[in-house]
Amino acid sequence: MTIRAVVRGTGHYLPERIVPNSEFETIVDTSDEWIRSRSGIERRHFAADGETTSQMAANAAEKALAAAGMTAADIDALIVATSTADLTFPSAATMVQSAIGMTGGFAFDVQAVCAGFVYALANANALIISGQAERVLVIGAETFSRIMDWTDRSTCVLFGDGAGALVLEAQEGDGTTADTGILSIDLNSDGRLKDILYVDGGVSTQSTGYLRMEGKEVFRHAVEKLADTAHKALGKIGLSGSDVDWIVPHQANLRIIKATAQKMGVPLERVVVTVQDHGNTSAASIPLALSVGVERGQIKKGDLIVTEAIGGGLAWGSVVLRW
Ligand code: UT7
Repeated sequence: MTIRAVVRGTGHYLPERIVPNSEFETIVDTSDEWIRSRSGIERRHFAADGETTSQMAANAAEKALAAAGMTAADIDALIVATSTADLTFPSAATMVQSAIGMTGGFAFDVQAVCAGFVYALANANALIISGQAERVLVIGAETFSRIMDWTDRSTCVLFGDGAGALVLEAQEGDGTTADTGILSIDLNSDGRLKDILYVDGGVSTQSTGYLRMEGKEVFRHAVEKLADTAHKALGKIGLSGSDVDWIVPHQANLRIIKATAQKMGVPLERVVVTVQDHGNTSAASIPLALSVGVERGQIKKGDLIVTEAIGGGLAWGSVVLRW
């Protein structure tokens, strides 16, 4: 008998305020044309004053629970992937636990920046297959607008806020790639690359700090490492790009998304793309794209999906799952 972590429901939340590229033309030396052509981004959502990561996460979680036909009482573990928690502690996850009325089980955050949701899925899968939890709520939520340097045109135009959530549940499979649920995982990090994407502040420096990125360098690593991790995860179970129904990538840059799909031999029609509407929402981008993909009618039961992400650390990885 093989235990699989199967997706039961998805949900997402985007803050009300939509910011088109044209708004940046008034604050930095940029243009809608530059942002669109270099990143594929057309607009993004920004949290309202006082709106927090855990509030957005709780909204997405409620929707995922409703889609799964479950309540907070059914959940054994809750994981929030975020780099922008409301407070230094407690975790955003315990704040969500309180907001959704989950009084049992346990909750914790995972911090792997833009790869955070892939890392959180790997943790949830480990909890489920080891029997420590039967139902896990996995959330990615970020307020990157709070760590933007609004004078730095090379970063402030790229990021957005939002949250997405999945409910995973243990289910028996027969141990083949025809099983529903998480089938394979590949995780990586390389701390030697910590200085090409980071926030120049934190608790021990007594400041919040701003996101700093050597865009070109990160781009180069992303194109190489994302296709590589997806190939590795597929290869572990004897599959390849031609078996994939949907790539649901981290949404940082349309050019990275296209290059990765091409390297994997998957046509762009088989990629869920939301970067034009959300910008880069870091750990929220994959669960947002999964939820939107379901809502659009793209992702259907039985589809083989590959998610892949890379971010600060650098940390990167991919998860193969059957919907
Ligand atoms: O989620 C974590 C992972 N993050 C990523 O995957 C992001 C990876 N990097 C990227 O997506 C791209 O590198 C960017 C979108 C950040 C930049 O695209 P690029 O094609 O690599 O442009 P560049 O950084 O080489 O900049 C080209 C030019 C520069 O001017 P010069 O030096 O050629 O005169 C920049 O100063 O574009 C300039 N530039 C801008 N111009 C107008 C940079 N930002 C802007 C801007 N508007 N907002």
